[in-house]
Amino acid sequence: MAVLGSGTGSNFQALYEEFGAGIVLVISDRPGAGILEKAKRAGIPTIVEKGGPDLCARILGHLEGIDLVCLAGFMRLVKEPLLSAFPRRILNIHPSLLPKYPGLGAWVQAIEDGAGESGCTVHYVDAGMDTGELILQARVPVLRDDTPETLHARIQVEEHRIYPLAVKACLAAIKDGE
Ligand code: GAR
Repeated sequence: MAVLGSGTGSNFQALYEEFGAGIVLVISDRPGAGILEKAKRAGIPTIVEKGGPDLCARILGHLEGIDLVCLAGFMRLVKEPLLSAFPRRILNIHPSLLPKYPGLGAWVQAIEDGAGESGCTVHYVDAGMDTGELILQARVPVLRDDTPETLHARIQVEEHRIYPLAVKACLAAIKDGE
């Protein structure tokens, strides 16, 4: 599988701990992203593809032989031709109980909304923003004294638990010829 990310790469790390050499490539749109450092430390090839109108075509050009694409903090919309090349083969992790709080800063949205709980979702990626079919969710409470940072940290513990589980389920479905 290939992992795409723009950030610190803690979800990449969780996937790497579960799947090891099953991850053969990490791509980031941000040259200094922590995910690249973590991948290099793990001995996984990395590629940087900065944004631009043909970003998804450039990314697709690197994905020959890849079965599954995992977005792990990849902060760009996935578009054609990448979408059609990987039908039900692109997963994303999002830090809310979708369909609630799509888009940026989902944990800030939860706090500002006065939510009593939030969580995270693994879902298939479609052309919308955080709109694809849900695969797995985990709930976490929002505490009265939560800051965006403390809530995000609590959500991330669950992200790191459920993302590998969801990927396992998808790989099993692919093997079964779904
Ligand atoms: C994660 O919390 C992930 O859910 C979120 O970015 C963070 C990346 O952290 N993704 C989104 O908000 C996508 N809409 P990481 O780089 O440590 O894995």
